[in-house]
Formats: sequence, C-alpha cells, structure tokens
Amino acid sequence: MKRKIVITADGSNTLQMVDWQEQYHSMHGAIQEAYHVFIKQGLALFKDREISILEIGFGTGLNAFITFLEAKSRGLKVHYYGVEAYPLTQEEAAGMEYVTALKAQQYAAVFDLMHRARWETKKTLSAFFSLKKKQLKFQQITDQNCYNLIYFDAFGYRVQPELWSENIFLKMYNALKPGGVLVTYAAKGSVRRAMITVGFGVERLEGPPGKREMLRATKP
Ligand SMILES: C[S@@+](CC[C@H](N)C(=O)[O-])C[C@H]1O[C@@H](n2cnc3c(N)ncnc32)[C@H](O)[C@@H]1O
Repeated sequence: MKRKIVITADGSNTLQMVDWQEQYHSMHGAIQEAYHVFIKQGLALFKDREISILEIGFGTGLNAFITFLEAKSRGLKVHYYGVEAYPLTQEEAAGMEYVTALKAQQYAAVFDLMHRARWETKKTLSAFFSLKKKQLKFQQITDQNCYNLIYFDAFGYRVQPELWSENIFLKMYNALKPGGVLVTYAAKGSVRRAMITVGFGVERLEGPPGKREMLRATKP
C-alpha cells in the first residue's frame, strides 16, 4: 500500500497510508502525541530500574528513539522489542527527520542504527538501551510474562478493528509480567471492555492534544 510523508500540527512528520487516509501518528502533532501517550503516561511510571518494552507497531521508530532519549535521564536500562510486519524503507526512515525535530543530532547514529539493525537480532545501542526488532504480525505474538510495558500503537479501529479485539489483548496480557502496563492512544468503549474482559484493570487518562482521553491497562 502506498505511504507518503505528511506534516502534523506540531511541525513533526508522520507517514500516511494513502488509500486508508490513516496516519502513523496524530495529525495534532506526532511528537507531542508520542511523548504524552507513551512517555508521560507509560514510561514515567518506571524509574531507576531495568525494564523490557514491547512496541506494537515499530513503524517510524519515533517511540523507540524518544524512549532512548528519555531512558538515561530516568535512570533506566531498557530492553526494547519492536514488532512490525511492514518495515519502512531506509529512505522513508531518513525522511521522517525526527533527529532534527527532536534536536538530538548527537544521537543521529542511534536513530540510523535503529532502522539499519538486523531483524530478529538483539542490538546493543548503548550501555542503557538494546533493541530487537521482530518482523511478524501482531496476531503471531506468543510471548509469556516477558515485558514490563507495552506501547500499543496499532492503526485505528476504523481501519484495523481486528487488532483491537479480545484475542489481541489476551496476547498482550499474556506477554506482560504481573504488574505490567499497556498504554494506548485509544479510548473507545469497546476497546476498554475488551481489555477488561481479558483481565486488565483499565484507567481512562487525559489524552494527547486533540484527544480527550486515552487508556492505560494494568495486569494485576
Ligand atoms: C500507527 S502505526 C505505528 C506507529 C509507530 N509506533 C511509530 O511511532 O511510527 C501502526 C504500525 O503497525 C504496523 N502493522 C499494521 N498491521 C500490522 C499487523 N497485523 N502486524 C504487525 N504490524 C502491523 C504498520 O505497518 C505500522 O507500522
């Protein structure tokens, strides 16, 4: 399917699935949304410890890169796992211009390596951050008790309702360690109910700019 780069309201780029008119991030601001949903409401719960993160939809690498930037200041050692069925090309990754937008030129090589790193291979990017990208469909995930935090960043219910189902959230529940947390930008009632049905405790939280609410689900 055709993808093109578009600019969001905070000046940062995202990708658009042209046929679906669906973006990889909020048009209200890609970087703003990523910081709010995944860092403020997710990563910020963890301090001074070693954690494993699963990203559902590695996509542009924006969430992985801002997590790398945040990990050091939060005293975290992060093992990051990104699942993605349809990787970006190197040209698309470079075209996102996230290093410039985040004023993180000293880590340009890290963002580049995140995309060049071989799939299915754990790569140490610094003393406090490793990355393993897995090329598979979310439906194929079978991990059990592996992760402290999941960034659930699939395309919206409008275009991929099958990814917001009990079946997928049961996989997420099983993949988390007890006490583990899943954050997502979505706030839809049926999504919240699917999470509760598989066993999560679910909170409605303030959403990113342009969105009233988002969800955070915790495995007891
Ligand atoms: C909303 S975008 C992810 C945005 C990404 N987190 C980022 O910051 O760029 C959703 C991602 O899920 C991927 N995807 C869609 N369906 C999938 C599936 N069934 N299995 C695995 N990946 C899928 C898409 O290719 C896309 O990269």
